[in-house]
Amino acid sequence: MDRKVWGKVFDKQTLMVLLRLFNKGIFDRLEGEISGGKEARVFMATNDEPLAVKLYRVEAPAFETIWKYLKGDPRYSNIGKNRRTVIELWVRKEFSNLSRMYAAGVSVPRPYAFHANVLVMGCVGGENPAPQMKHLKGVQRSEELFDELVSQVERTYQVARLVHADLSEYNVLMEDGRPVLIDVGQAVDIRHPRADEFLRRDLTNLANFFKRPESEVEALVKRVKGRETGEETGE
Ligand SMILES: Nc1ncnc2c1ncn2[C@@H]1O[C@H](COP(=O)(O)OP(=O)(O)O)[C@@H](O)[C@H]1O
Ligand SMILES: [Mg+2]
Repeated sequence: MDRKVWGKVFDKQTLMVLLRLFNKGIFDRLEGEISGGKEARVFMATNDEPLAVKLYRVEAPAFETIWKYLKGDPRYSNIGKNRRTVIELWVRKEFSNLSRMYAAGVSVPRPYAFHANVLVMGCVGGENPAPQMKHLKGVQRSEELFDELVSQVERTYQVARLVHADLSEYNVLMEDGRPVLIDVGQAVDIRHPRADEFLRRDLTNLANFFKRPESEVEALVKRVKGRETGEETGE
């Protein structure tokens, strides 16, 4: 995107944040918009590698939900209610969750940088941003892919000690036939009082998409939590 166009696309404060990231050399070109949701807009950018720049709207309508998620997490329980502060904390949390998952070897975009309401990460799919899993046809929703996803949830739980908490076919991107988990802002520590509930819901969403019987979900929850108290193997 041409620099002079920026002012027509972003409000002043967002523009300042983007310029700061630009000046720090985080990216050298901002390209087109990949997605424009209610909470956030995602742009492609380039540096040595293709990047995704996720920009939270400070007027995000799900502010109350975001606030509640943060409040329940022991890491952020003393939070106030100023909008900008809350969104900035949310971005910090998303970056921290993403880093924990990435370090644990979970299939997620590479965390790159964050500042204020903006998060920068690797672009899944590179130059051609990867599609959401929801576009997979029936025959492509294979048992192998389902098993791979449950393994990613297991690694997230066992090694990163997190529960994604918004996992569905919308928050999994398909890159060369392999799933990549995204949108980890709401992920909670496994000690969160509702962690079990969120884990069960994540696995139910996946089971539904893959047309698996819901009666399987309990066994999947067990599999994911399995070695909870044991030592991590091979890490
Ligand atoms: N790292 C990324 N690489 C490629 N595309 C991405 C990336 N992050 C997000 N996207 C695209 O932007 C969309 C919205 O991102 P997401 O993090 O799910 O935010 P939200 O659901 O809150 O709008 C995704 O469905 C995907 O199409
Ligand atoms: Mg999403």
